[in-house]
Amino acid sequence: MNSSKNPIYDYFNRPLRDLRISVTDKCNFRCTYCMPAEIFGPDYPFLKRKELLSYEEIERLAKIFVSSLGVQKIRITGGEPLMRKDLPSLIRKLNEIEGVEDIAMTTNGSLLPKYAKELRAAGLNRVSISLDSLQDEVFGKINGRGVTVQTVIDGIDAAAEAGLKVKINMVVKRGMNDHEIVPMAKFFREKGHILRFIEFMDVGNTNKWNLKDVYSKKEIIEDIHKIMPLEPIEPNYTGEVATRYRYQGANDEIGVISSVSDAFCSTCNRARLSANGMLYTCLFASKGHDLREPIRSDLSNDELTELLENIWFKRDDKYSLERSETSATRKKIEMSHIGG
Ligand code: GTP
Ligand code: 5AD
Ligand code: SF4
Ligand code: SF4
Repeated sequence: MNSSKNPIYDYFNRPLRDLRISVTDKCNFRCTYCMPAEIFGPDYPFLKRKELLSYEEIERLAKIFVSSLGVQKIRITGGEPLMRKDLPSLIRKLNEIEGVEDIAMTTNGSLLPKYAKELRAAGLNRVSISLDSLQDEVFGKINGRGVTVQTVIDGIDAAAEAGLKVKINMVVKRGMNDHEIVPMAKFFREKGHILRFIEFMDVGNTNKWNLKDVYSKKEIIEDIHKIMPLEPIEPNYTGEVATRYRYQGANDEIGVISSVSDAFCSTCNRARLSANGMLYTCLFASKGHDLREPIRSDLSNDELTELLENIWFKRDDKYSLERSETSATRKKIEMSHIGG
């Protein structure tokens, strides 16, 4: 059997290193590019309580991923993960697993003033907080619920005060907020947080994605470089999703996540577990592998390990490298289900 430091490799020789765990498909926002309000309305069939993996079940799977399959980093996602009851108790369980080097969470920030301290105390190290605009009118429309910019800034401040490392994610969509790239860069440079710009992606089938709406990495960098000159820097680690840049003559940095214009599938080491126990080997997957049924039957940990190994061995996903106009319309899992 595999020991914790030895990863397993997929069909293209990519190791398994990161596990992204979605704990709920619900969210208190309705971002147009993720959960458009006209589709995710009051009658939308969100997962029911009994369909969700319990924290004990998540813990059991995470232990196997870490101790036998080489996972080192765990990221909690949603929907909005803080919509799930008592999330700090899950973080505490995950933090006790020997071999976990990093626990992070991706959140919209709105509930961080309430939970940041408790999450930090439970063992959470880092948060990625989404904010797409500094103007209430623009941001309120994007998040679909009229949530103010200050609400998210309060979350960012609460996280930093609690001792969590903070990165900011800004999804850039042409005509929606591309005029805010430079103001956002200046604002977060001053505030001392790394801002990552994310190209609008064709995740799921509900966000009306169109290649014309993608504001590319090249355009983003050019816009900033004209005002505040940039230079590229090396990745922190193999498989890092963001390409990093530094402001010339300074230490502060930004990142760009260019899934559309410059794909990074060749180093992709991430597996994704949805809230109802489906394992996906790509963000753009059409199909997942059910783990809930096997863990609710009497499968042993060794049998589960073998099942997971076989899924990873066969993995041959490289969606972003092969993306085309037609693949965008193929049936795909929604962002709120797979957690980004
Ligand atoms: P770090 O651990 O800080 O590098 O975090 P991260 O960038 O991996 O995580 P985060 O959840 O903040 O992701 C930022 C953006 O990158 C989100 O829009 C994700 O959907 C996107 N992203 C993360 N992993 C992948 C991936 O494997 N493929 C694609 N296409 N996008 C990804
Ligand atoms: N394209 C790019 N990024 C997206 N996110 C959600 N939907 C999309 C999309 N269609 C981002 C969120 C969050 C992260 C999990 O993914 O803003 O930062
Ligand atoms: Fe919610 Fe994040 Fe999706 Fe926005 S991007 S709807 S905050 S899960
Ligand atoms: Fe990984 Fe799929 Fe994203 Fe490529 S498109 S980087 S294989 S998750």
